[in-house]
Amino acid sequence: MAAAGRDRVVHLLRQLQRAACQCPTHSHTYSQAPGLPASEKTTDYAFEMAVSNIRYGAGVTKEVGMDLQNMGAKNVCLMTDKNLSQLPPVEVVMNSLTKNGINFKVYDNVRVEPTDKSFVEAIEFAKRGAFDAYVAVGGGSTIDTCKAANLYASSPDGDFLDYVNDPIGKGKPVTVTLKPLIAVPTTAGTGSETTGVAIFDYEHLKVKTGIASRAIKPTLGIIDPLHTLHMPPRVVANSGFDVLCHALESYTALPYHMRSPCPSNPVNRPAYQGSNPISDVWAIQALQIVAKYLKRAVRNPDDLEARSNMHLASVFAGIGFGNAGVHLCHGMSYPISGLVKMYKAKDYNVDHSLVPHGLSVVLTSPAVFTFTAQMFPERHLETAKILGKSN
Ligand SMILES: NC(=O)c1ccc[n+]([C@@H]2O[C@H](COP(=O)([O-])OP(=O)(O)OC[C@H]3O[C@@H](n4cnc5c(N)ncnc54)[C@H](O)[C@@H]3O)[C@@H](O)[C@H]2O)c1
Ligand SMILES: [Fe+2]
Repeated sequence: MAAAGRDRVVHLLRQLQRAACQCPTHSHTYSQAPGLPASEKTTDYAFEMAVSNIRYGAGVTKEVGMDLQNMGAKNVCLMTDKNLSQLPPVEVVMNSLTKNGINFKVYDNVRVEPTDKSFVEAIEFAKRGAFDAYVAVGGGSTIDTCKAANLYASSPDGDFLDYVNDPIGKGKPVTVTLKPLIAVPTTAGTGSETTGVAIFDYEHLKVKTGIASRAIKPTLGIIDPLHTLHMPPRVVANSGFDVLCHALESYTALPYHMRSPCPSNPVNRPAYQGSNPISDVWAIQALQIVAKYLKRAVRNPDDLEARSNMHLASVFAGIGFGNAGVHLCHGMSYPISGLVKMYKAKDYNVDHSLVPHGLSVVLTSPAVFTFTAQMFPERHLETAKILGKSN
């Protein structure tokens, strides 16, 4: 009975892995090279880690102007959303740029939970500005929009759908060279500063999809926990749920050695390889921090220790899921957020309906983990214990 249940879970996870392009945020392959021969049936025997440059520290944002100067940047695009443009994180970045003599223009029209239309508007701005570097100050919405703007401004002749994941787009490999992008995350959630993914709602089809390529990964992530002190409670909770699910899903994902086919060339090994010993370390560490600090971070905006630790946990979980992948909670979140009609999320200072990403992900998690527990009872029990279940 238990073996039959386990087989069902393995079957579903394999199906999900094969349908990678239909679960856009987290089941992409970075390698957009041509498909493998159908004869290739063996499972993988290796895994690898890709990790972006990260700098962490309270107040470290003041260094961003020096980074741009060190890069020789002369004409910088600073991207953010309307809400954040009025808040201290953007002010601190602008002060650092000004102090270091960096010439910059601000784009504050990022849409919270971006769409193809909002991406295109940002791309047009980037093309007109002919920038030589980008700074994204905000949550996943801003960082993802900035990645797309940098990509398409660097390949001006391309069509928008060229790089969008197949089957909605053409999934073309990125061969152009992008400008440096520094990401300053202000939520403790997506880990977008560590990933080569940019997500948007394709409004025409009412689905979320994205662009996935190592080439669009930020050059540097500046993680300054002081920014998280400005987040309202619901933004802390929802982005924290995203961290929780990144950790839980990557730790319970199909192991890399059960994933097939085994690539005949390393360029075809996906970034989302399945759970593996290195991603496991990051996922478990992130989970321990979430268990200790998420509730405190939501309840008390002045709890710098809790909010700082959650900021670190979002990076840890990003590194973990960026190399292992996630599964059903994220896969099922796309219709939940894509089909939103009236729902207005509390504490989100926006004029449109939205189900925040972290909320759309966590909603199905009790059902998902009840189901996947049959596959790896030991791992599910271990994570339940970390989260406070005593027996
Ligand atoms: N690229 C990736 O790897 C990846 C991974 C997961 C999710 N995503 C995407 O990221 C988006 C969600 O990003 P998010 O959860 O980080 O939030 P967000 O960027 O959508 O921001 C949510 C709200 O919080 C506000 N806000 C952000 N930081 C604040 C601060 N410090 N103080 C006050 N207000 C603040 C914003 O102005 C906005 O109103 C979704 O589109 C999702 O699909 C991307
Ligand atoms: Fe997520």
